[in-house]
Amino acid sequence: MTDNMKKIVVVYHSGYGHTKVQAESVAEGVGSIEGVEADLIAVEDVTDDLERLAEADGIVFGSPTYMGSVSAQFKTFMDASSGKWAEQGWANKIAGGFTNSAAQNGDKLNTLIQMSIFAAQHGMVWVGLGMLPGNHTNDGSEEDLNRMGATLGAMAQSNADAGPDVAPPSSDRETARLYGARIAEAAKRWAA
Ligand SMILES: Cc1cc2nc3c(=O)[nH]c(=O)nc-3n(C[C@H](O)[C@H](O)[C@H](O)COP(=O)(O)O)c2cc1C
Repeated sequence: MTDNMKKIVVVYHSGYGHTKVQAESVAEGVGSIEGVEADLIAVEDVTDDLERLAEADGIVFGSPTYMGSVSAQFKTFMDASSGKWAEQGWANKIAGGFTNSAAQNGDKLNTLIQMSIFAAQHGMVWVGLGMLPGNHTNDGSEEDLNRMGATLGAMAQSNADAGPDVAPPSSDRETARLYGARIAEAAKRWAA
């Protein structure tokens, strides 16, 4: 690691492994950009160790959508960050967010909105997905990138009776990977 190396923390919760797959794809995309490395952290491991996030150039937030919002575990992490908020310890870091749920819509947008407001409270610089919607024309398919038609961050959908070995599908994993790469590029430009 050189002095110029940028670090992006991907901090996520996943109850049953599906959002973890999405988080791993985001981290893979981050790491695909030269000079940027990803640090993948489960929220359960971070509540007592917020310094790891304070050292990063960017933080990507990931949570399944449970009851139309971030999971309780992710909200616990959000609330635990209030000390960092008070000192604006994450100010001017690059931020992004991703979520996964069972229904096509599933109220995922509310989860991303929660995350973006959270990032704004911390004075962070939010990076949207930057991708046109897929699967929205007669020629479209479930294989399309951004088949969920998200803009604020990355969305994925996992059938409720499918395991994380197959869900979310490859199109959502690739969408997450490209979002990670976009976040990494943004961090390089922002914190040059
Ligand atoms: C408590 C609970 C609440 C849920 N609420 C929603 C929801 O609001 N919308 C939806 O589409 N799916 C909902 N789901 C389904 C999960 O989002 C879906 O199974 C997801 O893949 C779980 O991700 P995980 O394996 O990372 O925990 C819910 C699941 C649980 C356990």
